[in-house]
Amino acid sequence: MNHLIAPSILAADFANLQRDIEMINNSEADWVHVDIMDGMFVPNISFGFPVVAATKKHATKPLDVHLMIVEPDRYLKAFKDAGADGMTVHYEACPHLHRTIQAIKELGCRAGVALNPHTPVALLEDIIADLDMVLIMSVNPGFGGQKFIDNTYKKLNDLKELSKTKNPGLLIEVDGGVDQSNIGKLLQAGANVLVAGSSVFSSANPAVAISNLKHP
Ligand code: DX5
Ligand code: ZN
Repeated sequence: MNHLIAPSILAADFANLQRDIEMINNSEADWVHVDIMDGMFVPNISFGFPVVAATKKHATKPLDVHLMIVEPDRYLKAFKDAGADGMTVHYEACPHLHRTIQAIKELGCRAGVALNPHTPVALLEDIIADLDMVLIMSVNPGFGGQKFIDNTYKKLNDLKELSKTKNPGLLIEVDGGVDQSNIGKLLQAGANVLVAGSSVFSSANPAVAISNLKHP
């Protein structure tokens, strides 16, 4: 498949959010990546339902909501109502992951599981067939603008292998430190959805930065 680009609005200018969303609308981006941080699962707090709903009001592309929160089950319906098209929960935050994934699907959303850098891909063996997407974190979640972790390539290879037999249509997303310098190698290793925050929004021309990621 052709890879998808999901700019992360965590790096947008929140005082000009409508402008930045319209930039994404008019770019070659495929999704809008929406980072939810609760100050518990991760040390940072980002934003909540009103900002997701405001984003949905202007976005013409699907909202890819990344839930970096404890007990995500409590909020799935609220994020769906706010406009989520896909929801990704963290493996490390879900003691009853199978139930959580079914709940996301019952809401009519694409269901994903994210793995922190230290969490092995092999732990997904008995859930991977139920997933629409796996998100490999290539930084420790919580902040934009961090340095890419090289072990990500090894994890992508592991995931590609596991998905071959168990879920060939799996979406494989990478999030954190993605830019023009590593996207080629990430695609080669099996990624097919690339999240990019700072490399897009710190660029002089974010729409061109998105286009460059779409056509590396
Ligand atoms: C990090 C978030 C990322 C973040 C990526 O916890 O999940 O989506 O926005 O930002 P960059 O691309 O700047 O690493
Ligand atoms: Zn994210």
